[in-house]
Amino acid sequence: MKTRVLTVDPHQPDPALIKEAAHVIRKGGLVAFPTETVYGLGANAYDAEAVNRIFAAKDRPATDPIIVHIENRTQIYDVAMTHSSFAAALSDVFFPGALTLVLWRNARIPPSVSAGLETVALRMPAHPVAHALIAAAGVPIAAPSANRFSRPSATTAAHVLADLDGRIDLILDGGAATIGVESTILDLTVDPPVVLRPGGVSIEALREFIPNLQVKAQYLTADNAAPAPGQLLKHYSPRAELYLYSGDDPARTLAALTTAARTWIAAGRRVGVLAADGDVIDSPSVQVARLGSLDDLDGIAAALFARLRELDASGVDIILACDFGTQGVALAIRDRLTRAADGRVINVT
Ligand code: TXA
Ligand code: MG
Repeated sequence: MKTRVLTVDPHQPDPALIKEAAHVIRKGGLVAFPTETVYGLGANAYDAEAVNRIFAAKDRPATDPIIVHIENRTQIYDVAMTHSSFAAALSDVFFPGALTLVLWRNARIPPSVSAGLETVALRMPAHPVAHALIAAAGVPIAAPSANRFSRPSATTAAHVLADLDGRIDLILDGGAATIGVESTILDLTVDPPVVLRPGGVSIEALREFIPNLQVKAQYLTADNAAPAPGQLLKHYSPRAELYLYSGDDPARTLAALTTAARTWIAAGRRVGVLAADGDVIDSPSVQVARLGSLDDLDGIAAALFARLRELDASGVDIILACDFGTQGVALAIRDRLTRAADGRVINVT
């Protein structure tokens, strides 16, 4: 299959191009499209065969459920059966945006979308291209992140092409995703509600509405007997081996990371470092990828997957990354880096 790329204006996409993409969706094809978090790989959520193609294109196990994307609030009830008093209130505030709600699944949505679960994850993206595509398709769009399974999510059309060229019908190229980490997933089928994945909407913002909110991002290893969907530890992984350096004292943490870089280089390994602007890595031959200023965590989140992919493509064997704490979007960054590290987190005390 030849993958076509259509370039669209991210703010005002050409309706003729959107119509073409919507036609592919309606015919059961696969279209990658930008959302404000990351690119999604979309199919008609009502079409079980089209949804199967998503799993095949990504090499994604059928046990990993997919988020359904909508473009207006009425569609919530096409996808879910909601008895949740929080659902309407939260969707008023956070839709459209980077929040995904887990609700009880409407029978119109094939079980395979939810990996057989009775629940369904639902999101209304704010990106004008995503919005226009879902509206033109006239159906909810099931879409995981548009990357090969267990690779870093795609924040540009070039990332999508690198992972999925020849495996999907079409990519709508609407430029780089602005948030850069995936949506926050909030399960409203349990009491108290539980955050399953920290993401673009902060825990602090959700706590204003749900004071007893629980956060349960689990880091399970692959040999864990029955991992909850999407909770596999190894995820977002570059090819290189990643180590996450975490600690209360930034100077000590950076010093430990630098020592490790020198040691790896002395052992003949090629080393890359993911660091904020201004972090001094005093070691020769280290490839430093800059994520942006520490004053701008949103910028760091937006750059994260692109820098990770660039370091990987540069051929380093080892990537050493700095942790940015737990405030706001930093918690999502820590979650992604912990998974990319496959649990190799070094706590510097
Ligand atoms: O920002 C995002 O959420 C992006 C854009 C494209 O919307 N999507 C995304 O999808 O990150 P994906 O498939 O890469 O991650 C979705 C996660 C999966 O790990 C899955 O386990 C979880 O959502 N999920 C989906 N349906 C679920 C359900 N019914 N119950 C619990 N978790 C669910
Ligand atoms: Mg994903």
